[in-house]
Amino acid sequence: MKNRITQLLGIEQPIISAAMTWVTSAEFVAAVSNAGGMGVLGPNAGQTEKATSADDMADRLTQEIRKVKALTNKPFAVNYIFPMGGAAEDPFTNAVFDVLVKEKVKYVIAIGQNVVDRELKRLKEHDIKVVYRDLSPTVEKLVEAEKSGVDALIVTGYEAGGHMSDYKISTLSLVPQITSLVKIPVIAAEGIIDGRGAKAALSMGAEGVYLGTRFIVTKENPASIEAKNAIIKVKSEEFIEFKSGAGHLRTIPTEAGKKALELINQGKPAEAYKYYGEGFKIGLLDGDLVNGTVSVSESAGGIQQILTCQEVIDEIVKSIG
Ligand SMILES: Cc1cc2nc3c(=O)[nH]c(=O)nc-3n(C[C@H](O)[C@H](O)[C@H](O)COP(=O)(O)O)c2cc1C
Repeated sequence: MKNRITQLLGIEQPIISAAMTWVTSAEFVAAVSNAGGMGVLGPNAGQTEKATSADDMADRLTQEIRKVKALTNKPFAVNYIFPMGGAAEDPFTNAVFDVLVKEKVKYVIAIGQNVVDRELKRLKEHDIKVVYRDLSPTVEKLVEAEKSGVDALIVTGYEAGGHMSDYKISTLSLVPQITSLVKIPVIAAEGIIDGRGAKAALSMGAEGVYLGTRFIVTKENPASIEAKNAIIKVKSEEFIEFKSGAGHLRTIPTEAGKKALELINQGKPAEAYKYYGEGFKIGLLDGDLVNGTVSVSESAGGIQQILTCQEVIDEIVKSIG
């Protein structure tokens, strides 16, 4: 398939695996890219323990990028987190930037509460293509993001896995509003798990799809088998959800998730954080479904088996091709 997203990213199919903390790795990213889509290294890619400093994180990211390059000569991207909460700079963002330049990475999936001009400028100076995903998107914010000069937009609906938007606007509502207003290409995200969802996204004017939860339940993804099986088992109506600092978090109702929800309802967000702060690693990666969280898309109810990345992509291509 050829469109502005495949051309921008140099990929065969407009299918991108989402940046996801802890549950990406070089092997997984290369599998997506080798299957014709684009793999994205997320925070803590390929790791089992937290980095001890920005320098340590940079060393580990460098190793992971080199592993991807050894496994594929196809394009891949790295997640880039714009400094948030009014901070001018962030040591971790700076460290990632230096790695991107040193390793000549060509594409980033940048996220934030707005596009940070200083960050965009320095990425562009190094000829890095910037696909921007706003964490709490609205029509106004994405129109502004286009004006700032990013290359493409990912439009995030509330069906999302991971941290969701502050606004409960679904993919079906938001994507057509954005595609009728902006000129740069749009990638639809959240809640898409198969070719039917992808086809719907393209019919709303999107030129690519960005899938997280579906790609967790693949053979190559580093998530634990316990988490993959829990995602296969969960029904869409079983999730619990609570406000988690910026945005919201949806999780399979593990004990930690239920405790966090209870404490949030009692007005104790700091205490609640202890239960979900490291939840993605404990639940998704380590497979401890009591003390961790499994924070995935509400569409997880429709995921029925572990597939290979190639199978996920081939099924979508059959629908949209
Ligand atoms: C477990 C998990 C962790 C995530 N972590 C990140 C992250 O670190 N950075 C980021 O940009 N997005 C993160 N996301 C959001 C995804 O990039 C993407 O927007 C989302 O998964 C797509 O929705 P879907 O899961 O419904 O396909 C995460 C999502 C999940 C499920």
